[in-house]
Formats: sequence, structure tokens, C-alpha cells
Amino acid sequence: MSDARLLSALSSLSHVAKQLDVPPPALPALDANCVKLNMNENRFPLPAVVKESAIAAFERHYLYPEDDNVGLREAAACAYGLSADQVIAGNGSSELLGLIYKAFLAPGDAVAMMSPGFSFNRKLAMLHEAQFLEIGWGEDHSLPTHELLFGPARAAKFVVLANPNNPTGTFVPIADVERLVAQSDRLIVLDEAYADFAPDNGLRLVNRYSNVLLLRTFSKSYAAAGLRIGFGFGHPELIGRLRTMQNLFNMNVIGYAVGMSIIEHRAAFDDNHQHIMLERERTSVELSKLGFTVLPSHANFLLARVPEGHDGAWWQAALRRQNVLVAFFPESDLENFIRITIGTAAQMDAFLSTVSDIFSSSN
Ligand SMILES: Cc1ncc(COP(=O)(O)O)c(C=O)c1O
Repeated sequence: MSDARLLSALSSLSHVAKQLDVPPPALPALDANCVKLNMNENRFPLPAVVKESAIAAFERHYLYPEDDNVGLREAAACAYGLSADQVIAGNGSSELLGLIYKAFLAPGDAVAMMSPGFSFNRKLAMLHEAQFLEIGWGEDHSLPTHELLFGPARAAKFVVLANPNNPTGTFVPIADVERLVAQSDRLIVLDEAYADFAPDNGLRLVNRYSNVLLLRTFSKSYAAAGLRIGFGFGHPELIGRLRTMQNLFNMNVIGYAVGMSIIEHRAAFDDNHQHIMLERERTSVELSKLGFTVLPSHANFLLARVPEGHDGAWWQAALRRQNVLVAFFPESDLENFIRITIGTAAQMDAFLSTVSDIFSSSN
């Protein structure tokens, strides 16, 4: 394309598309042996029986997947004590978040998210030309129910609450979530991406309240981030609206089959969840000994304040030079924090010894 043609094509972008930043140039390709602790993936092999389901599904590569994901929705409904019309299946839960924004927001509307929170929500609000209201957590990361009900968030079409929250890892008791849902006449989107690492979850609220949309994913606790499997649970009327707006054949046959198989073999993941919770505790204790201040986490990651002297960007870059990847969120007053995904014991050993080496060589 000549430059004149490119300029002409770019001038036809919608004003929303013009506002979004073009992604920065990619960082150098990752070393396959890097210790990747930056995206809350789950670095464990799938059970053999689940892998076999993927291989069998590949043989059906020439077919479209099932229309409206009927079988997968029925299987999830059965596993989570719901009916199929209360379930939508997504290409990851982020597809479902996107659908919720599309379904409930017109330009100029407001949406509220607990902040710091999952930053993809900010982008979705921007795409839908919505006002993005970031509501700060209460003391000790509690839910500011009064503010959500009567403060500026009152204007929001819906409130997004991740529990456990990303990137803090903190958890709000379900009784507090229920109080908010019961007193609110608005939709509460309860994003439970990390629920399997937490002491409780809000599933029971789905049958009690028609203003809850609950999201789950198999990306974190079921080690299937690359296969894109997510679910939304809610009142049949809300779920039905979202299903009608969904892309044709939104999942692929392999993700679909793996989703079915994971549901059937869910108990096989209990050890994995236990392991991650134990490693989370060990990593937290060891990081504290090295001078980090670690927030209590109920997810598969830790948010840690770095020791004085350097900021989070410095630590992220120093670790990256040693082939260890962690996440850093300069927005929302988190300049002095890094977020570390909990991986295998060997990965956490490598991470801790690298931190310790960096610490001794910089002091
Ligand atoms: C809070 C939260 N919600 C949703 C997602 C999206 O998960 P997925 O699209 O892989 O299901 C993530 C991923 O990091 C997350 O942290």
C-alpha cells in the first residue's frame, strides 16, 4: 500500500479506533526456557485423558464446532448445579466480558470497576465510548458497598468486581458481595477467574439474584489458557441476550472438546490447586524475608511491593535480563509493585534465587 493510500485508509478509521494506541513494537522473542510468571497461566501438564480428548477432536478439524455450544453448556450446567439456559460458553471469559460491554453500554454510558482491577475493562469501556469509573477499594481491600450503592458509581449501568481481584489477589467475603447484589438494582458482573484458589465463591448467588452475571475461566485453574474456554452464569433472560449477540462458532473444536473433558475430570486438578496454594505461601514467606511486602493472595499470583531503592519497572527489567518474566502495572499507584504468577516449585526456586542474586548485586 502506498503512503497516500494508507493515509486515506487510516482517515476512515472510526474515532474510537483512532483513540486506541497502536501496540508498541514487540520485545525480543522469548527464550523457550524463560521462567514465565507474568500472565497468571498455569504451568502444569493437563491430565493424559484431557490431552487425548484434544487429539481426538483434531480429527474433526474440517467441521464447524457445535452451534450455540449446546453440549458444553449442558455439561457446565450439570457440573455447577445450573440449567443450560443459565450458561453461556465463551472463547475465554474475556470474550464474554466484551459481550457484556456490547450488550449493556451505549456511547456516553458509565461502567464502574473496582480499582486497581483487570485493566482489559478499561479498554472495553473505551471501545464502547463509555465513561470508566474506577472505584477504589476500602480499607484492607474491602468492598466499599455504600460508595458503590450511593456514590458516583450509582450512575453506572453495571459494576465489575473481580473476586479474587487481579492484580491485587485480594478476596472479598461472599457475604459482602451478596449484600451489594441484594441492595443493588443494577447488574453486578462478578468475575471469578481465580475462584478455584480462593476459600469461597459466589456461585450460589446465581440462583438467588437475577442481577448477577458470574464469569469463570479454564485459563487459570485448569491450565488451558491457550485453548480459550470460559463461561458466564446468570439469569436465563440475561444469558439468552448475550447468546444472541455472540459470534458464530465462537469456540474451536479442540477447545470445546477439552472443555468437556476438563469438566468430566475436574477432580484431577485438585492436587494442582493445592500445589499452587502451597507454593504461593512459600513464595510469599521467602519474598518477605528478602524485603518485599506481599499482599495476602487468594489467586495464583502474588502482588508484592518491592524493597526501597528501586521501583517495580527496575525489578521487572532486572528480572527480564535474567530470563524471568513478571508483570508490572505503572497505572493505579502500583509503580512500586510487581505481580508474580505462581508456577511449579522449580520455577519459584529459580525466581527466588534470581531475586536474591539481584538483591545482593545491587546493594
Ligand atoms: C480477572 C480476570 N478476568 C478475566 C480474565 C480473562 O481470562 P480468559 O479470557 O483467559 O478466560 C483474566 C485474565 O488474566 C483475569 O485476570
